[in-house]
Amino acid sequence: MKVVELFAGVGGFRLGLERADDRFDTVWANQWEPSTKSQHAFDCYTKNFDSGEHVNRDIAESWNEVPEHDLLVGGFPCQDYSVARTLSGESGIQGKKGVLFWQIMKIVESRRPKYLLLENVDRLLKSPANQRGRDFSVMLASLRDEGYFVEWRMINAADYGFAQRRRRVFIFAFHESTQLAEELKSDKPKNIVHNKGFFSRRFPVQEEHNAKHPDQQGTLPKDLVEISDHYSFAYKNSGIMIGDEVYSAELLPEFDGTPVTLGEILEEADRIQGEVDERYYLRTDNENKKGRSDYEEMAYQKGPKKEKRISNTGHEYYYTEGGMAFPERLDVPSRTMLTSEGTKNRSSHVVEDLNTGKIRFITPLEAELLNGFPAKWTATGTMPERTRYFCMGNALVVGLIEKMGKEIMNLHEKEQELNHQKQMELF
Ligand SMILES: C[S@@+](CC[C@H](N)C(=O)[O-])C[C@H]1O[C@@H](n2cnc3c(N)ncnc32)[C@H](O)[C@@H]1O
Repeated sequence: MKVVELFAGVGGFRLGLERADDRFDTVWANQWEPSTKSQHAFDCYTKNFDSGEHVNRDIAESWNEVPEHDLLVGGFPCQDYSVARTLSGESGIQGKKGVLFWQIMKIVESRRPKYLLLENVDRLLKSPANQRGRDFSVMLASLRDEGYFVEWRMINAADYGFAQRRRRVFIFAFHESTQLAEELKSDKPKNIVHNKGFFSRRFPVQEEHNAKHPDQQGTLPKDLVEISDHYSFAYKNSGIMIGDEVYSAELLPEFDGTPVTLGEILEEADRIQGEVDERYYLRTDNENKKGRSDYEEMAYQKGPKKEKRISNTGHEYYYTEGGMAFPERLDVPSRTMLTSEGTKNRSSHVVEDLNTGKIRFITPLEAELLNGFPAKWTATGTMPERTRYFCMGNALVVGLIEKMGKEIMNLHEKEQELNHQKQMELF
């Protein structure tokens, strides 16, 4: 099965797919970091994978080099997907410049893969704030116009046993010519989303959806500009679009195992990395401008606050925030890793070292394990430590893609069998 990987980062999609089945063949991958001259993520990708073509250029310039493929995958940014009619042609529409989703659509239009598997932050379903669900509606309608059905699910990896409470929306689009589309198009959307659909097959849900959120049904307008200008929809964590019809429900995960905990990840890391270097520990013997040591600074950052502050306009107000665990709890999955992991920042994970009992940041290797990457995946020899954390903050929980990959291969096999039967009938 030929795969194209966009926004490849350090290859989380590819790793998950290859773990699922060795018949996934990534023929073309693109990764380019616009904000830096050095291309550490791309170098890491190339070091870890050798087959296929790896392209290190802006996708806006290289999209037309994408070869034929069956499955397009990628994690792309949540941007402004609004469109406007072009002045010249009645039917021409234009999205904002620099919005990467439009590059995906160009590839879809020219190569028409059977399946797409995309990943995004959960905010995508709601944005923008003043027209809820507009961006996701534009995205759905764009795929509809190219003949795709789309299913989505917001998944918190820890709900299905993984070691991180990372919530991301996964979007699976399948062309109307596929066997799956044929199978699902006469079924009830509710039944698809709860039982029969792509996600429910691998990520089971409770029979009843969350009673606090009634399910939603709607019809997407035909015209993309109308959607962009006026359409809103209260998207829930799961749903399906077939033709113009959208159904969405707030589903509750069903999982009867116990998730891997942060403590177990530290134990696994300990077996590999042994004693942790001094530089990860929070110093207690230094002092910053506020008179705090590194340890005290982190304790302050994580602590509850109610502080009088003065705004730029001279207005006095109280800034409040609740406290966070300091150090982290080891008996539950970790919180979401961000790209700032490992810095003196409120959201960085700070743990009690299993051997010394002293307080420290997690190591880059522990960050890799929290996403389910092999240990030392980003230790390329050239990638700075900050970038190793950064890449993991950008990456995904590989085990989720592995589960989805198994389902995609299943679909592909059925598809091939059916095509074979049809050919035999023709003879
Ligand atoms: C959310 S990350 C994807 C991470 C990936 N799934 C992984 O497992 O590592 C998005 C990636 O898109 C890349 N990117 C951003 N703008 C790009 C562009 N214009 N062309 C190609 N890649 C781009 C970023 O450098 C980043 O690595």
